[in-house]
Amino acid sequence: MNSPQRFNPFDLSDERAYRRWREHKLDGYPVTAAALLVPVKALARLDAAEHAALLQRCCKANMAIYQVSGGATAGRDDIRSLGNRFGLERLDTNLRADEDSITSLRVVPETPGTHYIPYTNRPLNWHTDGYYNRLDEQVRGIVLHCVTAAASGGDNLLLDPEIAYLLLRDENPDYVAALMRPDAMTIPPNVENGVELRPQQSGPVFSVEKRSAALHMRYTARTRSIEWRDDRNTRLAAGFLAELLASDADYIIRHRLESGQGVICNNVLHRREAFADDAESGQQRLLYRARYHDRIAGTELLNCLSEDWKCSG
Ligand SMILES: [Fe+2]
Repeated sequence: MNSPQRFNPFDLSDERAYRRWREHKLDGYPVTAAALLVPVKALARLDAAEHAALLQRCCKANMAIYQVSGGATAGRDDIRSLGNRFGLERLDTNLRADEDSITSLRVVPETPGTHYIPYTNRPLNWHTDGYYNRLDEQVRGIVLHCVTAAASGGDNLLLDPEIAYLLLRDENPDYVAALMRPDAMTIPPNVENGVELRPQQSGPVFSVEKRSAALHMRYTARTRSIEWRDDRNTRLAAGFLAELLASDADYIIRHRLESGQGVICNNVLHRREAFADDAESGQQRLLYRARYHDRIAGTELLNCLSEDWKCSG
């Protein structure tokens, strides 16, 4: 292995490093939700084997699914403890975060300020969280915990951004170059009633986090309120990603979170399908979401490459 400073598979001029990383990445890559699933006894007190199993999957695929066994319930404090165990500490705040910055996602009656789609039962298109955030406040880690599943629907689809990068680079390295430009994707300001809630935000789709040397992705599939850089390769690259995400590629993992299950991830690409609550029985989908400015500790590039992180199943 080269020295940490020199080994950068995301450098387009270093084909050798890319090939080596690519081979490692695809070797034993999990393509089912079952391969990502780890049963745990208590979220707040993972034992060493549970922690290692979750970290192994996060290293390989940037995500893992946990399942609290025995029907034990988990609250916000448990989610906070789980995050802390993986170095997730700096919670992102957003417009609708509850007091402790862990957000309850459920259908809320439409009133001013609640027209954001996460608070409805409508489908939510592909994105990474916080793509509109300032570049120094990017969302790098997420815990999404299911308290109650919907009566029907609400599946999540998940795709590892490193796989998106790999498929894009295999298709055409010029597409990657276009999406690494600092002006690749611009989100217009968020203005409500003449008040600017968030300024315009430009940035790359793909970037490399200095500290971890790991890849970060900033993306939304929305076509309104987003400006792609006006050049051919950016357009083609965005088109390639949109096609990939609309495809039935093996790498796209579909999973419906059940009560007591959750996803811990390095802000992977995700979408949510529409769902229905059951007013009669009172079954209402409720998820807790914690977004962090930290990546999962232990998923630094060299750490993941230095171990034989294969997933089975
Ligand atoms: Fe999201």
